[in-house]
Amino acid sequence: MENTTEKKKIVYSAIQPSGTITLGNYLGALKNWVVMQEEGTHNCIYTLADLHTITVRQEPAKMRKNVLDAYASILACGVDVEKSIFFIQSHVHQHAELAWILNCYTQFGELSRMTQFKDKSAKHADNINAGLFTYPCLMAADILLYQADLVPVGADQKQHIELARDVAGRFNSLYSPTFTVPEGFIPKNGARVMSLQDPTKKMSKSDENVNACVSLLDSPDVILKKFKRAVTDSEARVAYGEGKDGINNLMGIYSVVTGKSMQEIEDEFAGKGYGDFKVAVGEAVIEELRPIREKYEKLIADKAYLEESYRKGAEIAERMAQRTLDKVMKKIGFIHK
Ligand code: TRP
Repeated sequence: MENTTEKKKIVYSAIQPSGTITLGNYLGALKNWVVMQEEGTHNCIYTLADLHTITVRQEPAKMRKNVLDAYASILACGVDVEKSIFFIQSHVHQHAELAWILNCYTQFGELSRMTQFKDKSAKHADNINAGLFTYPCLMAADILLYQADLVPVGADQKQHIELARDVAGRFNSLYSPTFTVPEGFIPKNGARVMSLQDPTKKMSKSDENVNACVSLLDSPDVILKKFKRAVTDSEARVAYGEGKDGINNLMGIYSVVTGKSMQEIEDEFAGKGYGDFKVAVGEAVIEELRPIREKYEKLIADKAYLEESYRKGAEIAERMAQRTLDKVMKKIGFIHK
């Protein structure tokens, strides 16, 4: 790498491949990953966090398919392995190793306060495994291995970033500066996409109602149908406002996809009903996703290229990760072999 790139800040982010990638993942995270990559002012490191997904039971064949699909989908969204480092978490064994170490520098009480743990243990009451509990330590390991400065995340991950910062700071003061203390931020150009059926909840691929969630790979017909069925309110006026979660969500989606402001959208649909608006949003989303779906179809048929890409990503990541892990182990007192 040249000298000039050496000083660039490191951006790190990851996404779980626990089903098909959704419109929410795309507008809330992936689109921004590509923006940061194209700005060229940061070194971007992106991970498909497959180790995280096994906190919930996965079916082996389905898991293999999900991970490969997600890898291809993210490339199709514009993440470019020539510009960013993009790999599969389980290919870089240092993640699991540092996670173990960080487990020993994280308190039971801290992990007990994580709201995602509380929510997930309520949802999966039959499988409250230790991994679900220590999940934030694995996430901290992801970030800290690469000395990341900046971590774009959704609002629901802010608490985990705080924990990663606390653990990094704790380790640094126990020994000596080892980890960069990362800063989390919620990308300003991203949208928090809500369920189309219950717009008070985040859009989620695990929703039982198939109409709640748009997948990146849904066909145009299916996308249009889902938007036509989107839950709104009885006011019948396209305007952003309190208590209008459904319309706010649709306006948010339309705004990120078209680049129009809320005011411009209100003006565009003044005097028109929700029916017209929903079709317009659906059509805008279809056009946004069309090239992604086409690119995905090409990529998923080219297994050799996918393999070459994720191997290359893992190779670079592994070198960076090992550098940090070596430092950490030496400071703790492990004997170098
Ligand atoms: N936990 C994150 C999520 O579910 C995904 C994730 C794993 C992550 N490791 C990360 C995000 C590191 C940012 C940084 O959305």
